[in-house]
Amino acid sequence: MAADPRVADPRVADPRIAVDAWFGRGPAGQASDPRGLPQRGVPQRPGPQGSPPRAIETRRLAIEAPRAEPLGHTDPLSRTDPLRTAVPTGDAGHPNPGAGGAIGIVDPLRLIDPRRSAVLREAGLRAAAGPPPQADRQRPLGENTRSVRLPVPAPPSQQPLAMPIYRTAAFGFGSSAEYAAVLNGAAPGFSYSRIDNPTVEAFCAAVAALEGFNLTYQAASQAFASGMAAVSTIFWAFARAGAHVVAPTAIYGGSYSFLRNVASRFGVSTDFVDMTDVARVKAALRSGTAIVYAETLANPTVAVTDLAEIARLAHEARALLVVDSTLAPPVICRPLEHGADLVLHSATKYFGGHSDVTGGVVTGHPELIKRIRDIRIDTGGSLGPDDAYLLRRGLETLPLRVRRQCATAQLLAASLVRHPAVRNVYYPGLSQHAGHGLARRQFDAGPEGTRFGAILTVAPHGGEEAGMVFADRLRLAQVATSLGGTHTKVSHVGSTAHRQMDSAALAAAGIDPGSVRFSVGLEDGEDLLADALAALDSLSRR
Ligand SMILES: Cc1ncc(COP(=O)(O)O)c(C=O)c1O
Repeated sequence: MAADPRVADPRVADPRIAVDAWFGRGPAGQASDPRGLPQRGVPQRPGPQGSPPRAIETRRLAIEAPRAEPLGHTDPLSRTDPLRTAVPTGDAGHPNPGAGGAIGIVDPLRLIDPRRSAVLREAGLRAAAGPPPQADRQRPLGENTRSVRLPVPAPPSQQPLAMPIYRTAAFGFGSSAEYAAVLNGAAPGFSYSRIDNPTVEAFCAAVAALEGFNLTYQAASQAFASGMAAVSTIFWAFARAGAHVVAPTAIYGGSYSFLRNVASRFGVSTDFVDMTDVARVKAALRSGTAIVYAETLANPTVAVTDLAEIARLAHEARALLVVDSTLAPPVICRPLEHGADLVLHSATKYFGGHSDVTGGVVTGHPELIKRIRDIRIDTGGSLGPDDAYLLRRGLETLPLRVRRQCATAQLLAASLVRHPAVRNVYYPGLSQHAGHGLARRQFDAGPEGTRFGAILTVAPHGGEEAGMVFADRLRLAQVATSLGGTHTKVSHVGSTAHRQMDSAALAAAGIDPGSVRFSVGLEDGEDLLADALAALDSLSRR
């Protein structure tokens, strides 16, 4: 006879399991587990932020022989109520006429048949009159129970190098008291992934480490399902009806639309000003100003904001400085070091780096971040664990990618600006760019020189039409949304990312109607340059 494989299975060998197949716990269920598994009713302390959390209790169910009787035989209603077997019901007991073949075809009138309630009443009366139900814990578990309650292995003793994906919406507890304590914040831990998730926390810890490594305080982060979820949550958290916001004219179109069309409906008013003009920013501030909102590198003009100066002005006015640094990730600039209160990123861009995930993240002092977390939980724009995994993985190659992308952008800008079909190239690495000197002071420099970012905007002569033709004639650079990925992408600004702005708003932001934004990827710079020059040559011949 073949050996029973279950004999070697430590779950089956565990005497506590044999004693109580229902709960995977024997009479000494509270005794310490030799394999370090958490015990029911004993709250566990989590590891440090970013390390795998305490184990969800492993419910080790005995592997039993199949049940002799079919399931459902104990349901008294299934035998006494003919309607119950004929009418499938949904989750909450509501009739579900759509489910299941012929029995799904039910005369709706039967659903409110008065006989039904009479039958149910009769069944209830008969059940009440019978002997009291008896628990039979020796009874083997049914096949469905055994399938649902599969054994969960303990976390490995060795630390995985990559962050595991905790792809779970819900977490189990050892007791109701532990559940309540975790939900109330009285005990650390996880309950529900809209609230917190270990993989998402690992991403947050990674961003906080990169964004805040030169600070005197320990920064914290909160992650979101998109950059816009991060942007909007900041305003829900720190602006209320009657609040005033100062934001840049050269602002990402989605943020512009949020402030103009959404926040305004809740009584938050915004003045859009040129953030590179400190005097204008100062003039726009007033006593009710709650937030000064800036972008480190403006999208798409790549205007450079003097973060330290704007922070000083904002703080004088008792406002928060919030900086969208999507175009200048922390290997280029860390706005918290320059006095910003909160820095946010569309993590969709450089953090993920491969155009395969959307996300957003906000970093700052833990006190501010706690408020952001509270609002995130209530508004629900939380990041999912799979996306958090991709975003955290992307951070490991952030410096390599961004350094190379910056170097290629510099090469393209320096060459394209000299082409006769080009009216202007916006890139802070060019000495003629208004923000060049500031960028040199404010941005990181590596062995390769200052990093000026990997976004450049090329405006050919000929306005909107010429811009669209130029973008379409590129062969290597791809007309595509988003930025910050491995592929070089181009977009005609006025008709895409900034379509929410009318021509007056575009002019105020200094955006040429022919502007084509390049998000430089990881292709060889010489190939990208040849592609762009060929497209520009073809414009000259039109
Ligand atoms: C500067 C900037 N901020 C915020 C966002 C919004 O991010 P998401 O698209 O991830 O919501 C974008 C998107 O392009 C952006 O470019």
